[in-house]
Amino acid sequence: AFKKDTVLVIFGASGDLAKKETFPALFGLYSEGALDPSTKIICYARSNITVQKIREMCLPYCRKSTTGNDEAKMKEFFKMVSYVQGAYDTDDGYIRLRDEIESFEAERGVTEPHRVFYLAVPPSIFLTVAGQVKKNVYAENGITRVIVEKPFGDDLESSREMQKGFKPLFRPEEIFKIDHFLGKDDVRRLLTVRFANPFLNQSWNKDNIESVQVWFKEPFGAEGRGGFFDSTGIIRDVMQNHLLQILTLATMEEPVANNADAIRDAKVDLLKCMEPLGPENIVALGQYGRSVDGTKPSYLDDDTVLNKKSKCLTFTELTFAIHNDRWEGVPIVMRAGKGLDEDRVEIRIKYKKNTSGMFKGCTPNEFVIHFHPKPTIYMTFNTKAPGFDDKLHQINLDMTYAQEYKKDWVPEAYECLIKDAFLGNSANYVRDDELDVSWALFTPLLKYVEGPNAPEPEIYPYGSTGPKGILE
Ligand code: BG6
Repeated sequence: AFKKDTVLVIFGASGDLAKKETFPALFGLYSEGALDPSTKIICYARSNITVQKIREMCLPYCRKSTTGNDEAKMKEFFKMVSYVQGAYDTDDGYIRLRDEIESFEAERGVTEPHRVFYLAVPPSIFLTVAGQVKKNVYAENGITRVIVEKPFGDDLESSREMQKGFKPLFRPEEIFKIDHFLGKDDVRRLLTVRFANPFLNQSWNKDNIESVQVWFKEPFGAEGRGGFFDSTGIIRDVMQNHLLQILTLATMEEPVANNADAIRDAKVDLLKCMEPLGPENIVALGQYGRSVDGTKPSYLDDDTVLNKKSKCLTFTELTFAIHNDRWEGVPIVMRAGKGLDEDRVEIRIKYKKNTSGMFKGCTPNEFVIHFHPKPTIYMTFNTKAPGFDDKLHQINLDMTYAQEYKKDWVPEAYECLIKDAFLGNSANYVRDDELDVSWALFTPLLKYVEGPNAPEPEIYPYGSTGPKGILE
């Protein structure tokens, strides 16, 4: 159950993440009745701003509630919010923060504090802030939870370094590492779809499946984020984390129980069935150039990309294998790109061709889960076309969520995740051993594409389908 008088501290409260995601999610939870009104939210940042200013900053990102009256709710919500200004690396700000927390808890008569610290700060200061939290504001006689968001290192070594830094400060169950894809309602639904419909899951194996493909396509580039993107690249940005999570949920075995550890054990078991990725797994590497009509800039044209010779990848397609009894021999294809022709994140489970019988060779079935922009599940299905003859016709058995659940409130990713952290449920947070295996998979590939013999990325026009030669 939700603990009364929880204190949530948002570090980096004046930054982008807080403005675009954290506050809108908190307001969303509040306005749908999913955030206990006894909660206290304390913003912490270096800049000298006010709660009013934070409210103005996040307003454009807050969505409408299902029950209306948002302005009044917004007013009430911000009554729960206060602000403490302070530096990240010295004690004084944290001491003021402690005073603020303790006076709230004393006023409410709290005997067993519940404090949640959301680190919406750059990774370079994760450990500084974490250390200060432990030193100055840790709930000695209660519960402390710390939320952090990727990037968790940029390869296996740096990720382990970070884990080592957190280890003496917090117990594993106190740290909540966000991969925001795991908060998306339709990603969370993957396990239900698979394991509550046994006929589906039973057909997802090497006997029936031709290939599994995970796609991430964005119609916009790295505009304005070049500083971040140039040292990140598409593999780190979305493949090692978001896409691997989708793939894992779609291919892992059924967890032995419906709890955080069992689910993450099943994920790690699956990840261990893959071999580290290298040059042999590359299908295509690309970087977007100017659009054909010249209206969209190339990656290198962007002012925020400082290295004008950068080989940073904005597109990558890989193919690899899962070595276990279920998937041996089935190609797994992962493709991600920015500056492409459409906005689409999906997983396609492609069935094998029918090799005998009346309809030998008919178009194979596909089971598709479309996560973005319009959550949908559909299956291509062969039937008879209307009329006198037996002509085959392929249709979609289609479930579009917006149509099926018209009136329901579908929580956003950060709403789900913050709620989970408040409740101490870490099933949809990334565990360290999971991070380890995923970095172990991708580090050799990253070393190759960023090393001295890095291949030249193929330049594809902004707004196109990407480099030539990608798999169908
Ligand atoms: C982020 C990446 O983690 O995920 C972005 O840094 C990407 O580059 C984003 O655009 C996609 O997430 P969403 O929720 O907008 O689909």
